[in-house]
Amino acid sequence: MTKPKIAILGTGYVGLVAAAVFAERGFDVLASSQDKEKVDSINRGKAPFYEKDLDAIVESTVRAGRLKAVLGRREAVLQSDIFFIAVGTPSLMSGEADLRLVKETAAAIGEALREKKTYCLVVARSTIVPGTTRNVILPLLEKHSGKKAGEDFGLCMSPEFLRQGAAVHDTRNPDSVVIGQLDARSGDFLESFCRQVYAGQDVPILRMNLESAEMVKYGRNTFLAMNISFINELARIAETIPGIDIYEVVKGIGADWRINPAFLNAGCGYGGSCFPKDVKALISFARLRSVQPQLLETVEEVNEQQAIHVVAIAKQELGGSLKGKRVALLGLAFKPGTDDMREAPSIKVANHLYAQEADIVAYDPKAIPNARNRFIRDTIKISYANSVEECLTGADCCILLTEWDEFKKLTPDIFNRCMKRSVIVDGRRIWDESFRKKVASYRGIGLGSNNAYASEHTVLFKLGDQLIQAGLITPEQLQKALEEQSRSGGLIGANLIKLGFLTEQALLDFLGRQYGISRTN
Ligand code: UGA
Repeated sequence: MTKPKIAILGTGYVGLVAAAVFAERGFDVLASSQDKEKVDSINRGKAPFYEKDLDAIVESTVRAGRLKAVLGRREAVLQSDIFFIAVGTPSLMSGEADLRLVKETAAAIGEALREKKTYCLVVARSTIVPGTTRNVILPLLEKHSGKKAGEDFGLCMSPEFLRQGAAVHDTRNPDSVVIGQLDARSGDFLESFCRQVYAGQDVPILRMNLESAEMVKYGRNTFLAMNISFINELARIAETIPGIDIYEVVKGIGADWRINPAFLNAGCGYGGSCFPKDVKALISFARLRSVQPQLLETVEEVNEQQAIHVVAIAKQELGGSLKGKRVALLGLAFKPGTDDMREAPSIKVANHLYAQEADIVAYDPKAIPNARNRFIRDTIKISYANSVEECLTGADCCILLTEWDEFKKLTPDIFNRCMKRSVIVDGRRIWDESFRKKVASYRGIGLGSNNAYASEHTVLFKLGDQLIQAGLITPEQLQKALEEQSRSGGLIGANLIKLGFLTEQALLDFLGRQYGISRTN
């Protein structure tokens, strides 16, 4: 088979990384964008966003003349044989994925298909709920082209599994390729292309129908998100038992051949442009089909609580109040290796700190420009430091939120030297025991502590419901406390007390009766 020419419509992480890797493997690739700045940047050999290793291959493939960015979609389609739809599907307010760009792209491909004389293939790469390729993309392609899918052109859905921060590596070395096909001819065409891209590599190619392929993507991401919420919940339980370390526990859990421990790192919760969005989209998709997605709802709820939990630990370590306390945040990006701030746990943590009147200073090696936009939009008062040292100087507490290598290398000395008192909350568990012993105070996610008071806020995240069941508050009072929480932050128990619905003593008595928890500080 001759080498097909490739068009990638969309130049975000999914589109541009695929474009660069296909070009690196010897294919002629046109990357189509609607944004002139992006097109110019790519054609100068520079990726329009930071992603490890991406600049190098964009630069070399543009220079070699195999990768070119074009403005608009028509030219890209007219000059190519396979067109990948790789545009974003962000969340709508309802949680559903916004298909606006997918629809626009499908319509534009359809228009250009009118002029094509030969059989070619459309591949949906964006994350879309089951049924979208057949029920949304296919009719638009047919309507705008006047041609018939499965006869005049082929149609596949092939989800992307790359991780940001490792996107180039993952695209070069996929664990598998999933091909959802409208018909065998479409699937054969895409499989043949994939076999050329991954020639000499052992990459299983799995073929199925369109809907199953769409579901694989949601299945993988929500399963991984579930793992993370599971381990974070286990970590919260573990934290109430002095001496326990969830990272040791995971080694034991993962020794079972049925359990893969790779995504069982307890921390400050999952963020990014995928897990939060995909969990929400599947919840909304299930509800529309009258399926109650109880597990997924809880996955999301536990993740939301994890940011509150991190702040609760800091608050506790600072004697019960964050007001006026200088809190240094190390790391803002949702994970290392990227400047992406989308749904980063740092946003939630900063919001909760801000609501409790902390004085926030933050440092991140890459994400500060993005963080500035995001935080300004969210009207949070936060200052940005140019270095770890500047960030820590004069701080009452340091919360580690992103496990950048730069932070892993820090020694206790810099914390002891710069901070008022080296109070550390390690939200990603990057520092070992010898580090922990040399700072004034260290609390890590999933590390058992003698301090049981935090448990009040963490284990009992359904505290409101339990208090109603115990007859201590009314549902209306809980509703008011929740409104207060969304207005000014704070924890449910504290808000119930603040609003005069419950006395502190009654809450402590309840916790003592129910969980054996008592205030220890
Ligand atoms: C995720 C999936 O891992 C990819 O396979 C998928 O292709 C991608 O979404 C997507 O749908 O496009 P990504 O969001 O880039 O990739 O990053 P992950 O490495 O999965 O991390 C997501 C979040 O989970 C991060 O905030 C990370 O800190 C957190 N995480 C991850 C944990 O808290 N614990 C873990 O054990 C792993």
